Amino acid sequence: KEMTYSEAIHKASSSITRFPLIPVRGVPLMNYIANNWDNIWAFCPDPSDLLIATYPKAGTTWTQEIVDLLLHNGDAEACKRAPTPVRSPFLEIVSPPPIPSGLDRLEKMDPPRVIKTHLPFQLVPPGFWENKCKVIYVARNAKDNLVSYYYFDLMNQSQPEPGPFGGYIHKFMQGELSWGSWYDHVKGYWLEREKRNILYLFYEDMKENPRREVERIMKYLDLSVSDEVVSQIVELTSFKNMKENPMANYSCIPSPVFDKSISPFMRKGEVGDWKNHFTAEQSKLFDEDYEKQMKDVDIPFRTLI
Ligand code: A3P
Repeated sequence: KEMTYSEAIHKASSSITRFPLIPVRGVPLMNYIANNWDNIWAFCPDPSDLLIATYPKAGTTWTQEIVDLLLHNGDAEACKRAPTPVRSPFLEIVSPPPIPSGLDRLEKMDPPRVIKTHLPFQLVPPGFWENKCKVIYVARNAKDNLVSYYYFDLMNQSQPEPGPFGGYIHKFMQGELSWGSWYDHVKGYWLEREKRNILYLFYEDMKENPRREVERIMKYLDLSVSDEVVSQIVELTSFKNMKENPMANYSCIPSPVFDKSISPFMRKGEVGDWKNHFTAEQSKLFDEDYEKQMKDVDIPFRTLI
């Protein structure tokens, strides 16, 4: 019998350490990923596969859950068949054995598959574009994204040590965190969205009007579910319900890998939490740098940076 995801990760947990980052075409990636880069780049999806792309902590899991529910006509039980990373594999992830890599997992699944990635646009394997796969991108405002990533790096023992918050802000601004620059990430997909038919969503829009955004995803996927099912999906994917759903809240990943005594995966799920973390001075410095890094694009973030 094949090992379950939870069993594999329990087995591997003692070999999980804070992995160093190695640049791949200038983008810092976990060494395991960098060392497997040729295989990742060569991955060829099926045209029916869907890619959900995000900068880490922008709302990936939330979007994965909405999509899975839409594909299962709102059937909550069907969407509890396995934890998120099993239902919707993480393309580039490579972990210590016996945890299967994203590629191993994908190879064992039949299309259509829902694939997660944090790769910036220029590192997405070209097969996705050649096969005209659908792509949903979710962007989150920079400061909240940073705060969420900071807590994640504190608790996730496979990510580099975040260090003090002030220094972390600098690493974020300089694109030194795992998966690189937030600025390049949100811009890369934004600039290609029309040419590549990418559905570009915002976390803040999803918070403001989840129903509207679920319906946008539904239309983009050429699905049609009843109004009642849409309501059900909105309810099932509320922060509160997902936090309590063991198949969506990453409770499958044991401490010490995800050290929940530091922070839960489902942490706050709010817009504007950055105000509880940035000092006025840090915020000013960040905003000045933001203006410079974002001056060449006009991405309609609804909230303060
Ligand atoms: P916070 O740390 O701000 O709480 P990702 O899935 O990309 O790793 O993103 C995780 C972030 O999305 C976390 O943000 C998490 O709490 C939030 N999140 C997850 N599910 C959510 C939901 N249903 N509604 C709102 N936010 C959600």
